[in-house]
Amino acid sequence: MNINKTALMLMLFCLFFGGLYAQTKKPVSHTGTTSSVARGKIVYANICLACHMADGGGVQNMNPPLIQTTYVLGDKTALIKIVLNGFKEDVEINGQTYSNNMTPHSDLKDQQIADVLTYVRKSFGNKASTVTMAEVKKVRAANVTK
Ligand code: HEC
Repeated sequence: MNINKTALMLMLFCLFFGGLYAQTKKPVSHTGTTSSVARGKIVYANICLACHMADGGGVQNMNPPLIQTTYVLGDKTALIKIVLNGFKEDVEINGQTYSNNMTPHSDLKDQQIADVLTYVRKSFGNKASTVTMAEVKKVRAANVTK
């Protein structure tokens, strides 16, 4: 009888801690596109959203949209430079002109810039490739700020 009790306790013990282990074991990936997009969404919410809006639609004649623009979908070096240096050119996007200035965000870490640009390039209906930390690092190193 005693032995059975011990065995039962052991079984319950294993079930309990086995279950706990299974619950806490969920792998959290720190690399890969999915987590870059997830992190980028947070950077976007904290910094870019105020001007470019949650849906990337911007504000007419003030802050341009980030939906299917040549800047967002195009050359990654140019796009990274916009975040590092800001942007102060008069541009016409989807028939609207924008002459407000975008402030530089060179205080962001390479990974944060990679994440936020990956998020932007894969959100709002955009389907462009990932931006990596290495790419940002390279552009920052070669970047001569005015
Ligand atoms: C203070 C408001 C403001 C913030 C914050 C801001 N932007 Fe901008 N952004 C602008 C304005 C204004 C322009 C257009 C500048 C011009 O016409 O010279 C612009 C232009 C752009 C462009 C190029 C034009 C286009 O619409 O494709 C991109 C890409 C961009 N911003 C991305 C970002 C990202 C990513 C962030 C966050 C890291 C960000 N911006 C934060 C105001 C802002």
